[in-house]
Amino acid sequence: MDRFTIAAPNADMEANLKAIDPLLDIVAEIKRLKVEHNAVILAHYYQASEIQDIADFVGDSLDLSRKAASTDADLIVFCGVRFMAEVAKILSPEKTVVLPDMAAGCTLEDSCPPEDFKKFTEAHPDHMVLSYINCSAEIKTLSDIIVTSSNAEHIVASLPADQKLIFAPDRHLGGYLSRKLGRDMLLWQGACIVHEMFSEKELIKLKIEHPDAPIAAHPECPDHIIQHADHVGSTSSILKFVRESEANTLIIATEPGIIHQMEKSSPEKTFIGAPGADGNCSCNTCPFMALNTMEKLYLCLRDQAPEIALDEATRVAAEVPLRKMLALSPGAAPTAPIAKA
Ligand code: 13P
Ligand code: SF4
Repeated sequence: MDRFTIAAPNADMEANLKAIDPLLDIVAEIKRLKVEHNAVILAHYYQASEIQDIADFVGDSLDLSRKAASTDADLIVFCGVRFMAEVAKILSPEKTVVLPDMAAGCTLEDSCPPEDFKKFTEAHPDHMVLSYINCSAEIKTLSDIIVTSSNAEHIVASLPADQKLIFAPDRHLGGYLSRKLGRDMLLWQGACIVHEMFSEKELIKLKIEHPDAPIAAHPECPDHIIQHADHVGSTSSILKFVRESEANTLIIATEPGIIHQMEKSSPEKTFIGAPGADGNCSCNTCPFMALNTMEKLYLCLRDQAPEIALDEATRVAAEVPLRKMLALSPGAAPTAPIAKA
């Protein structure tokens, strides 16, 4: 059985890609179209290096949602996965939001079907529902507060100690928060297949080869990887750790696209991607993030498609827990305590 499924390539897109003039200067065209359409290009750290380099803003999920909520561009070109572009549309409904490849899904999103999750939340009506931003807009409508890996700890710690909690869909991030904060949570059993691929055995072998190299891990990793980490945090927090570290060599247990920013900010250091079971880390490349290419970015700017469309009732309902997240994130203006609806 496949580890995950990716939608078959869209025939129109295939034809459009084939029709691109091989002599076209794609970089120059992207820059020109960006001005013509008053567009902003937002990219996640897991995108290909050339996409990160042409983006107006590169960030983690929280930074990107803040940018999407505050941009004055007319067109948001989201180089990331679909749930991220959906967040941009939820927070900026008057903008056109496009994603270079609509097949860019996420296994965490897929692991949480809305009908099943609705039954689960209804079976626990006294629980507040916290959902990781890596979920569909429908799951967001069933949630009280959304969190990202960079604000989850802060938000959970701010909730009353006796408030019962459901955490979905990532069992690893939920388990990490639960252990770190000493707080019981009912965990939905979803996972990111990319972060689940790291091999503890291979990581230990690597650590023996590089005893002075600190390990930085994303909390989407299973506990047997987190146990070996010197630093656990979101992509932006891992980048900060790497910048500030005095070590010459660091081991990185997250999607290897992030290493591009590390090489830019700390060119004197060496970064080793944590290995998968076969001893190399190529299996840890996110296949969904990798669907976006410069050619697809050019096409989606040119055609302003494929566009994110959400029905308004879903968008409005999903906006509520997302706005709560923004209000409760570190650095936000103080708000009244959040009570379960
Ligand atoms: P952050 O960038 O928010 O750490 O999340 C990583 C991720 O899950 C992207 O898929
Ligand atoms: Fe989803 Fe994992 Fe890919 Fe992030 S790295 S988009 S959580 S599948």
